[in-house]
Amino acid sequence: MGPCPEQRVGIAVWMTWPDPPSLGRVDFCPVSTTGRSKSTVQREQQIIQAEAEFWDRQEDVIQEFYDRPHDWRFAPALANRIIKKREQVVRRFLRKRRGEIDRILDIGCGSGWFLHGCSDELGMTGVGVDVSAKKIATANDDAQRRGLADRCSFLTIDIMELDPEQVGGKFDLLFAQSSLHHLPGLEEKLPVIVERLLRPGGYMLFCEPHYDHGMAPRLEKFIWGMARSKVFGRLFDVEFFNEVASAAQTDDCNADEALRGESPAGKQFFGEDPDIQNIMRTTGHELLDERYFHAFGGHLTNAFYIFMKSRVLRGLYRISLPLVVAADNYLCRFERFNRYAEEGMWFLRARAD
Ligand SMILES: C[S@@+](CC[C@H](N)C(=O)[O-])C[C@H]1O[C@@H](n2cnc3c(N)ncnc32)[C@H](O)[C@@H]1O
Repeated sequence: MGPCPEQRVGIAVWMTWPDPPSLGRVDFCPVSTTGRSKSTVQREQQIIQAEAEFWDRQEDVIQEFYDRPHDWRFAPALANRIIKKREQVVRRFLRKRRGEIDRILDIGCGSGWFLHGCSDELGMTGVGVDVSAKKIATANDDAQRRGLADRCSFLTIDIMELDPEQVGGKFDLLFAQSSLHHLPGLEEKLPVIVERLLRPGGYMLFCEPHYDHGMAPRLEKFIWGMARSKVFGRLFDVEFFNEVASAAQTDDCNADEALRGESPAGKQFFGEDPDIQNIMRTTGHELLDERYFHAFGGHLTNAFYIFMKSRVLRGLYRISLPLVVAADNYLCRFERFNRYAEEGMWFLRARAD
């Protein structure tokens, strides 16, 4: 199963909803309006609207990202190798609990790869929701094309507005890959999502950014040292790197280059600087497992493949990638290294009563 930004890699995915409901069509009392001031609700609605537009626009140009990747996640040949361990962990978790998990809700499902994969490979069923109508259209088209539309369906809606009655009741598993951090006020929202949409004793599998202040200081020093050195400095595409770095910082969400950076809701979340590990550990649910991935493998791949001009060095890096990934996966078991991991994965079980 692919890791993140709209990745069409890994066992990729499934389902169709011919006429996706648009945002705001649900007419029960949305969670987002209970106990919150009018201005907070208005502000959140503006962010969600901007978020939907951002991902719609990103879906329009996504092929350009694969043609000229700015991050390892958009280089499928390498990404498949880097995320392999994560795929194995997720598969093992799902297979072990196959008897207890049938219906899955994928929160912020993007193009639907996870549900497509689960229904294709494991025969599971589910619903994917996302605020981007274009992502949902792609998810539904792929499900139709792959003959999975009877097992998974996709809906354009803000997760906070989803009524379980709309989608056939509560779910056995809540899944989210890189989308919970797009929900401003996650600490208050997560318990509401669980209460409303997960059956008692159901499972949660969440994979979110972990160390979002960049990379381990020593690694950063090493990569910058190489980039600034006389010999290697000429081989790194510093111009493209700077373009991507400034895109990540721009506040002009309408600029095309901004689509390579963080989305409006993601920016808001990181602006609040929450400790997602702590949020996951203090949900009050049983923490079955937590894993960390990509302490340095992703950053090295960006430096020595994505932003590397020399074809020879790219080739050499590619050959050595299995070793880098194996070392990364091994070291990520230890707190000393995994505190810098790009991604954390949390497996939780809700109380049965
Ligand atoms: C980084 S993308 C991850 C997409 C997908 N999970 C994946 O792994 O490819 C985050 C997704 O969350 C969606 N999203 C953001 N806020 C949301 C909300 N309030 N309700 C539903 N989806 C939301 C965005 O539209 C976007 O598609």
